Amino acid sequence: MIRRYSFGTPLPTDAVVCALPAEKGDVPYFTTLRENERVSFTLSLSPEDILFGLGESVRGVNKRGFRFRSWNSDIPSHTENTESLYASHNFLVFFGPSRLFGIYLDDPGAVIWDLGYTRSDTAVITSENGNFDFYLIEEDSLSGLVRTFRGLTGQSYLPPRWAFGYIQSRWGYASEDEIRTVAEEHRSRHIPLDAVCMDIDYMVGFKNFTWKPEAFPDLKRFSTELKQDHLRLVPIIDAGIPAEEGFAQYEEGKAEGVFCKKEDGSEFVASVWPGWCVFPDFLQEKARTWFGDQYRPLLEAGIEGFWNDMNEPALFFTEEGVSEAFARAESLRGSHVDYESMWQLKGSFNGIGNNMNDYRRFFHRIGDASVRHDKVHNLYGAHMTRASADAFRRYDPDRRFLLFSRSSFIGAHRNGGVWQGDNFSWWSHLKMALQMLPGLNMCGFLYSGCDLGGFGSNVTEDLLTRFLQLGVFTPLMRNHSALHTREQEIYRFSTWEMMRDTVTVRYALLPFLYSEFMKAALTDGMYFRPLAFDYPEDTRAVRVEDQLMLGEGCMIAPVLEQNAVGRYVYLPEDMLMIRFRSASDYDLVPLDKGDHRIDLKLNEFPLFVKKNHLVALCAGGESSETLDDRALTVIGRIDRETVYDYYRDDGFSPRPDLQQHLFRISIKPETVCTSTAGVAISKLLI
Ligand code: NOJ
Repeated sequence: MIRRYSFGTPLPTDAVVCALPAEKGDVPYFTTLRENERVSFTLSLSPEDILFGLGESVRGVNKRGFRFRSWNSDIPSHTENTESLYASHNFLVFFGPSRLFGIYLDDPGAVIWDLGYTRSDTAVITSENGNFDFYLIEEDSLSGLVRTFRGLTGQSYLPPRWAFGYIQSRWGYASEDEIRTVAEEHRSRHIPLDAVCMDIDYMVGFKNFTWKPEAFPDLKRFSTELKQDHLRLVPIIDAGIPAEEGFAQYEEGKAEGVFCKKEDGSEFVASVWPGWCVFPDFLQEKARTWFGDQYRPLLEAGIEGFWNDMNEPALFFTEEGVSEAFARAESLRGSHVDYESMWQLKGSFNGIGNNMNDYRRFFHRIGDASVRHDKVHNLYGAHMTRASADAFRRYDPDRRFLLFSRSSFIGAHRNGGVWQGDNFSWWSHLKMALQMLPGLNMCGFLYSGCDLGGFGSNVTEDLLTRFLQLGVFTPLMRNHSALHTREQEIYRFSTWEMMRDTVTVRYALLPFLYSEFMKAALTDGMYFRPLAFDYPEDTRAVRVEDQLMLGEGCMIAPVLEQNAVGRYVYLPEDMLMIRFRSASDYDLVPLDKGDHRIDLKLNEFPLFVKKNHLVALCAGGESSETLDDRALTVIGRIDRETVYDYYRDDGFSPRPDLQQHLFRISIKPETVCTSTAGVAISKLLI
């Protein structure tokens, strides 16, 4: 059941797909307080209450005990103390012995989530602008809550099947020769690969929708050449358009009036990679259509996937911001130099990027109204994603495109996936990546993953290996790193064969993981879940922070620590552990409910399968297009007839019908081909 409560004058966000009448009266369970523009909701927490959700955010799976701020921010070196990340996903579930409900604040501005931070027994949620819809969702299970929420916000984006392949990316690949070398290094060493990303270096002067003619003399020929080798190119597109006289996109957009303006009607200009840029007003349909149309030359060159970047929007600086910083610095000149004035001097320049004053300098047109950016800040990236997805649907309605974005808001999950933004080659960021996945899934962002290996700083062999072992299971499996960091492609390392073997597991599992993903997406379910969703009565399971349920019957528990050669795992029921070393080399170990210390050398990682559930492996391959998804080895720990509904489709048609693509695999213990220690392995051709 969903109830909507309306506050102030809510602005359209595109997050919700069903119109509900607004309730009269107060929101149940909470005490509501209005203070000027701010509206806050207070609720007492019992010691047992657990809070799940908030999508992309730091800290654990259980969000209790910290304060978060929904404010899309470019903060690459975030730590566990960072209150805001690249996206804002305002969906939170309260789960305790005497309560189960979810709330969604459809609020495009800043929202503060004090979840037992100021007082450990109190949650206070505050909208800074006071114009929003508050949805209260009640069901009798955690999964039911999420399903109802997703009914409210619409079905998740479906990527093409090739997007489940391994993707190699690095800021710095500057020509087709460099990309060809990356591809060849993978192919010659039999490291599976489906795509290579093109970062801003492919553009002329980092200008969107251009590519360097000398480095990419015939992009269509190049993309066709790669496709013959089952590889795709995935170029980046940034939010800003260079404000350069004579640059076609700038002149055209200016003539169309699609860029954000300042209060006096002049263009808002800020510096990003290409230098001074203007920013499309993605909140206007006209601007979305215009921007989407700019993808056309790339689509005509055979590109089938994109990543949208810098769309919080990230602003390096504005002329006004720089002048203000100088003025502040100037005002300190001549004053007595002590540490306080020095800190002030430094502070004048430190906060120059992504500055709040800059976010107050420009406006969007919503209908007839002009709305200051900070009131709707969190919508910007989501509406850029919407512009791209709408354009792909216009250009080729019969094909799914790959699209993932850095910034997002709920609603964007219908149009694209997300990557978790810039991270670092830190073990703490490996753990954080895992812990963000269930929240993202609750909000509908099933297609997601982190920069494997870490974007910033220098990765080590063991850290990359453990990142890849998590990446085997994340729908987006992309190795990405920053310019000037240690080269991070698998083949750069002495242990490349071990890392290659890890990637082969992804390809052996790819049809199965794709099946699990599609079933979850088409039924408003979750691909990754906290254990509490499956074992709400198990007081141990509900508090597990470093294991996740995957699909219908699996659980992952990656190694997240340096030099660890094993870890403790809690099994809420009897399971089978598949300890992988490669697609063809794995142990099958039945384990009973309870605590286990599992040995996991650097080349080993586990997948746990619930009893009387099945996992299907194919023989693997070097690209998603060449593997055989009909010859399957089905594995399970079964003591009765067990059924798996295997989803299989052409991998690219939009709007697939679930029932038409399900193949029922049924195994009886007595018809099993091989059996080791109570484990059934059956080779099937479907
Ligand atoms: C920021 C993005 O987050 C990162 O992935 C990309 O490599 C750089 N921009 C350069 O385009």
